Amino acid sequence: MSAEEIKKNIYWVGAVDWNIRDFHGYSTYKGTTYNAYLVKDEKVCLFDTVKADFKNEMLYHLGQLIDPEDIDYIVVNHVELDHSGSLAEMIRLCKPEKVFCSPMGLKAIESHFHPVDWPLEVVKTGDSISLGSKTVHFLETKMLHWPDSMFSYIPEDKLLISSDAFGQHLASTERYADELPEGAVLLEAEKYYANILLLFSPNVQKLLAKVGEMGLDIDMIAPDHGVIWRDPALILAAYDRWSQHAAERKAVIIYDTMWHSTEKMAKNISAGLRSVGVHARVLSARANHRSDIMVEVMTAKAVVVGSPTLNNGIMPTMADVLTYMKGLRPRQKIGAAFGSFGWSGESVKILSGFLEDMQCELVEPGVKIKNVPDQEALQACFDLGVKVGKAVNAAMAAEAESAALEGEE
Ligand code: FEO
Repeated sequence: MSAEEIKKNIYWVGAVDWNIRDFHGYSTYKGTTYNAYLVKDEKVCLFDTVKADFKNEMLYHLGQLIDPEDIDYIVVNHVELDHSGSLAEMIRLCKPEKVFCSPMGLKAIESHFHPVDWPLEVVKTGDSISLGSKTVHFLETKMLHWPDSMFSYIPEDKLLISSDAFGQHLASTERYADELPEGAVLLEAEKYYANILLLFSPNVQKLLAKVGEMGLDIDMIAPDHGVIWRDPALILAAYDRWSQHAAERKAVIIYDTMWHSTEKMAKNISAGLRSVGVHARVLSARANHRSDIMVEVMTAKAVVVGSPTLNNGIMPTMADVLTYMKGLRPRQKIGAAFGSFGWSGESVKILSGFLEDMQCELVEPGVKIKNVPDQEALQACFDLGVKVGKAVNAAMAAEAESAALEGEE
């Protein structure tokens, strides 16, 4: 890989991690990148660094453009270690005149690095610095996705350096989204949103409104992961959609099973959904990674969860998925629970508790089947699918009507 000019005198100088497959519990089948950007102006400014293991790759790219000692400023848009893992070493090597960070960034830097003599300077929303012919405006983006997170905007180039927001875990030799199949990039952006940002959706809505109010003219969004957007409208519209919890006419059925009884229930529920025109995805929690399940959950109108009762509880795989899902706060879902049991039968109640915590609208108490389902029990599962499906159809019709009324106003 080489450094690559993305705007006049602005360069990608990051690193590509082709082989990472687990990013703190998120499955990254396609690797990722740690993007850092360099502006060569009267002042030379580096935006973010890379994960510690990739420092030499970034230094190699920087070395194609400058001597690292020529770096005057470092902007720390985000302190998570995939972007600041090389920060201490870069400060030691470059001896920058200033290191800019947000107010919460200062606290994060202090608690991560315990710096003694770093030339830290705090910047807030509305502050800007001049690099010579270019200026950098700062916009704090608290809880997108850490308290310290910040955007840097260069108006002369209509460039937004957006930290984690608008990113994707996607390794590639290409640097731009439009150089790859559009669907493939959006799918990775969707997975990134579902697993990193979904719980901060209200903040995303506020941020999009703020960017609109500020009238930022943006023709390129350069995130800290994956490829750069030269058509920002596409990803901005997707973020608007995802942050409004917009859903499809779809139910996702997530289950685990011991002796296939709960699995049979899942399949019959899916048939019931299908019978009323609702698309169903049937996902075993054992066969599917939690982060892939989250992508389906984000865009589904209903979440139906199943587990046999195991030791008065639920299957550990389901506890894993539901704990993860609850933390990501999917909203505006219809929910239902089901499961087989041998003697005590607590699973449906426990599963329903998770759904209630996620503010799901439960269609009924759920379906419990003793041991192996007979024809009558399978019919009860089919009927549960029908009930969930009808609730989905009613909710979609109500949303369409409300959107039509808004359109008339
Ligand atoms: Fe890519 Fe929040 O770090």
